Amino acid sequence: MHLLSLKTTLFVVFVFALLSSLRVSGSDIWKREPQNPQPTSVSSQANTSPASPTSSGTSTSVPDPPDPNSPAILVQMTEPASAKNILYKIGSNITFGWKYSGDFASGYAPKSINVFAQSSLDQNNYYTIAANATGNTTKVIWITATESSLPMATYRLYICDERGLTGVPMPGALSVFSGLQFGMYTPRGRTDLPAVLLARERT
Ligand SMILES: *[C@@H]1O[C@H](CO)[C@@H](O)[C@H](O)[C@H]1NC(C)=O
Ligand SMILES: *[C@@H]1O[C@H](CO)[C@@H](O)[C@H](O)[C@H]1NC(C)=O
Ligand SMILES: *[C@@H]1O[C@H](CO)[C@@H](O)[C@H](O)[C@H]1NC(C)=O
Repeated sequence: MHLLSLKTTLFVVFVFALLSSLRVSGSDIWKREPQNPQPTSVSSQANTSPASPTSSGTSTSVPDPPDPNSPAILVQMTEPASAKNILYKIGSNITFGWKYSGDFASGYAPKSINVFAQSSLDQNNYYTIAANATGNTTKVIWITATESSLPMATYRLYICDERGLTGVPMPGALSVFSGLQFGMYTPRGRTDLPAVLLARERT
């Protein structure tokens, strides 16, 4: 009888200490499953990530509107390093890399990244280089050999977030990028280059 109550007391003290340590380790622990903190903390982190303006699930939280004075975020190409006189062989693998002009407003970072190329010969046709890539994508490789018929022409590169090519510029969010033009040619000798590409090369 006496022993049992001592055990009970020790147990209560132990539980109290355990609960106190949990309380210290994070106040939001109470919203989670304390038995199994590892996987839930990972998913909870993903759900509360500021990168998702419309959080999934039943509780849809709209992020605060960004500071209207904060600038729109622009793509700055790092690869190719210079935007001048860029020519690629049709059939080669082309790497496009970029960084951003600043930090995205909380909740307005890209949820996904889309990258397209558009030839000057057919401005209604967009070649998809990346679709729905993860929001943190800052580098894509265009395997041009897998495109069935790329014309020799100048092309324009487009990079945009999940709002697509028609997404309007917003403070703190990614503005649609269309600032890189490049030539694509079939390597059969310089004389085969279209006049427009040769003209670009001379400038
Ligand atoms: C392009 O990349 C793909 C995938 O990595 C590879 O299989 C292919 O050989 C590459 N092509 C060239 C021309 O480098
Ligand atoms: C991206 O994914 C969404 C939902 O899965 C889909 O509706 C949309 O068409 C995709 N966008 C592209 C460019 O593939
Ligand atoms: C990008 O995000 C994905 C998950 O969306 C993650 O697995 C990956 O590690 C991230 N990459 C970088 C460079 O942060």
